[in-house]
Amino acid sequence: MKLHPHDRLILALDVSSVEEARTTVQRLGDSVGIYKIGYQLGYAGGLALSDELIRAGKRVFLDLKLHDIGNTVAKGVESVVRLGASFLTVHAYPQTMKAAHEAAAGSGLKILAVTVLTSYDDADLFAAGYELGVSELVAARAEQARDIGIDGLVCSGEETSMLRPLVGAGMLLVTPGIRPAGAASADQKRVMTPTAAIAAGADYLVVGRPILEAADPQAAADSIVAEIARARPE
Ligand code: C5P
Repeated sequence: MKLHPHDRLILALDVSSVEEARTTVQRLGDSVGIYKIGYQLGYAGGLALSDELIRAGKRVFLDLKLHDIGNTVAKGVESVVRLGASFLTVHAYPQTMKAAHEAAAGSGLKILAVTVLTSYDDADLFAAGYELGVSELVAARAEQARDIGIDGLVCSGEETSMLRPLVGAGMLLVTPGIRPAGAASADQKRVMTPTAAIAAGADYLVVGRPILEAADPQAAADSIVAEIARARPE
């Protein structure tokens, strides 16, 4: 798929109020292609804001990580389709993925599956009752997502290079934990530069604090877009 480099940059709108989010979007304009709304802003008026952004021609990623009985997931996805969002996350459980995939079929909404949360290690999975370690479970869920027809996966930079050969070119890989060279990693333990993530096979980069907390957010976004353009010229 041919995309402008700025279409590959997803800004995580991790702010606590709609007002702050509006200011950020106004400052960044078209420097970023997609605005991601997660729990923090979503439960603070972000869903109404997403409607406003979509009407203004912006693309919106709802990072709501849905997981419920199939019927409930399907009804939720139908509402997100009506809203006109471009991306929605679900947890990578087969029933959940199937329900979301079927409910989004034929719409412009792309479903992204979260395989295993990156805050989980093998011991956390064991404590939650799983017998597989993180890398086995990530691989198994990625294959299930691919077989169900899910559009893409959210995965760390490290997972990206493992998953690209496993799922093939057809699935979108969306990678958070991006830090431009020299930026503080904050609480992200495994970080990659935009260049490294694109080289590892990422289609989209999710960036929050390196842009939100920059003295000049637009310059920070533009420099990431320039890095994407160099890493993936097309
Ligand atoms: O501020 P920062 O660039 O670390 O933000 C990364 C964004 O990506 C946050 O919205 C976070 O919730 C999200 N994310 C992540 N790691 C994952 C999945 C999503 O950091 N594995």
